[in-house]
This record gives sequence, structure tokens and C-alpha cells, in this order.
Amino acid sequence: MSGFDFNKILRPHLRDFQAYSSARTEFRGKAEVFLDANENPYQSVGGGYFNRYPDSSNFAVRSKIAEYRKVSVDNVVVANGSDELIDLLVRAFCDPGKDKILICPPTYPMFKTTAVLNNVGVTEIPLNTKFQLDTAQIFEAIDENTKLIFINSPNNPTGNLIHSDDIKLLLNGFHGLIVIDEAYIDFADTNSWINLIDHYPNLYVIQTMSKAWGMAGLRLGLGFGSTDVSGILQKIKPPYNINSVSNNWAIKAFDLIGEKYQMVELMRSERLKLQQTLRELPFVEKVYDSDANFVLVKVKNADKLYNFLLNQGIVVRNRSKLPLCENSLRICVGNSEENRKLFKALREYKD
Ligand SMILES: Cc1ncc(COP(=O)(O)O)c(C=O)c1O
Repeated sequence: MSGFDFNKILRPHLRDFQAYSSARTEFRGKAEVFLDANENPYQSVGGGYFNRYPDSSNFAVRSKIAEYRKVSVDNVVVANGSDELIDLLVRAFCDPGKDKILICPPTYPMFKTTAVLNNVGVTEIPLNTKFQLDTAQIFEAIDENTKLIFINSPNNPTGNLIHSDDIKLLLNGFHGLIVIDEAYIDFADTNSWINLIDHYPNLYVIQTMSKAWGMAGLRLGLGFGSTDVSGILQKIKPPYNINSVSNNWAIKAFDLIGEKYQMVELMRSERLKLQQTLRELPFVEKVYDSDANFVLVKVKNADKLYNFLLNQGIVVRNRSKLPLCENSLRICVGNSEENRKLFKALREYKD
């Protein structure tokens, strides 16, 4: 057992924290006239009814997500992108100047950025050469101030899933919270860790509507964990973190989930074409397998290729400065027209 104790890892000043409360969250019953929130009673400038504050509990959208994910609404938090969830987790559990998170680079940079912003320490234990966790080193590196371990699976920028046996080892042996960021899970052939939140009280799973759902502009991050962890995040989040448009759109999207499956299939077939095309190019040294909507590729000279593509009006991500990613570019799967332009440019490139 991990010896996980929610009250031990929660920042002490949050034990009796009273969340911001509005008249509308306090009031029970029916009303027709709302004069409690200093809102404007008229239509918004430009038309539309955005004059009212959204529901600060996000109850309707959380219920919809809970139904879809087969968990209780009390296990679900929605945030302004999963980046906000990362920030809420750090602020709930890590005392600035004292506590630490642990990350395994190369991985999603916002884990570190968020910790640094909050004056929280960062222990970095690089992935091994197969882009998997070095669990022995991780266990050696953690101490009583290590509160959170962030794992990204499928991992950005490498694209691979992290072995579930290694994650289970950490879940069973770590006293803090294991956060699994599943931003790209819809593109993989595997189950979400959400199915195990009842089994592991120290498991927290983050997903997003920015990738497979095609809704990055609406900023919707989804968090799943025990009622204790979800409860504190729900308490400390900004009251109106989900705007009315995103809120209503998300509820609608869950009724149209077939569209998401179709887009995912399309992107997976474009991913295959991208990998095949890359593998045929003489300057490509390695095309990594991918369970995400991007592909990491090692080339002879990444800076040169990156600049060549820029000159063709094509922006990819140069990840060469990250550990284990020397001369590597991360290329996102575009639509067939975008990919056609990319393939043409790649075939014209001379090393
Ligand atoms: C692993 C990972 N997590 C989270 C995010 C950000 O998600 P969101 O748009 O929900 O903030 C990204 C974006 O690229 C990502 O790669």
C-alpha cells in the first residue's frame, strides 16, 4: 500500500478553507428575479445572453461527463484547460519553498513551468532510452516533501504510452498523488486510468477536450479522482472558471460523441500516412511509434529541416534541446490538405 493520507499531503492552510460562495450557490428553491450578483439585466453587447454569470459549481457539465465516464459527479472537476488543473493540483498540495513535484523529462513542459511559477521544487528523473519510467531512480529520489508525480501517457513529445506496471508500482509505493495526464488518450488503443480511481485513492487523471474533441479554443480540462482530491480542487478553483459558451458546448458535445470517434479515426489514418512518408525519407533516422496525434522524428539535422519547413510556411516543433530528443522534431498530424503540403515540402528538402 502507498500509505496515502489525503490530510497529510493537503497544504495545512487549506484544511479549513472556506470556498467563495455566491447567493446563487447558497439559495435553494425557485426564483424568477435575480438581483443578487450585480449583473446587467439586458442582452449582451453584440447580442446573445451572456449577461448572467455561469454556474460556479459547473454541475450540469460535470454531471454529463460523469455519466459518460461512469463515475460520480463528485469525482469530476472541470477547469479552464487541463493547464488550470495542473496549477490547481500544485496549489492544493505543494507548499511554496518547501514541497516538490517529480517529473520525467522529456515530458509536457507545463508541469515544470507551473511548479516554478508557484515556487515549488522540481525533481527531474529522465525517462530511460525506451521513453519509459526509471522507477528505481524515482523511488530513490522521492522524499517526504515530494507531493506529486506527474506522468504523461501517451507522453508529449515522445508519443508513447507509459507501461502500466510501472505506474502501478508507483501507485502502490508512493505516499503522494500520482497525476496521469491523458491529453492524448483518445488516440491510443488502451483504457483510461479513470477506471481505477476507486481502487487507488492517490490516483488523479487529467484529460482535455483540446485534442480529440477539437475544442482547444474553448479551454476545457477534465479532472478525475477521489472525492477528497476532487473536493479540494473544486473548492479552490476560481468560481467562474468555465464560461457559459464552453459550458454549453461541452454538454452538447457529449451528445455528439460519434463525431469525436470519426475525427480520431481520421487522425489515426493520417498519422499512419505521416509515419510511412517520414520512413521513406533519406534524412530521417528514426520515426517513433505514436499513440498520440503527433509523431516524433529524429533526423540528421533538425535545425536545418525546421528552418526549411518554416520557409515553406510550415511550423513544426523542434524538440532537439530536450533530453533524449537530439535532432528531433515533433510533427502534429494535420488534415489531408495540410499533410499533403508537408509531404511535398519534405520530399523537396535536400539534406
Ligand atoms: C500533455 C499535455 N497536457 C495538457 C495540455 C494542455 O491541454 P489544455 O489545452 O487542456 O490546457 C497539452 C497541450 O499540448 C499537453 O500536451
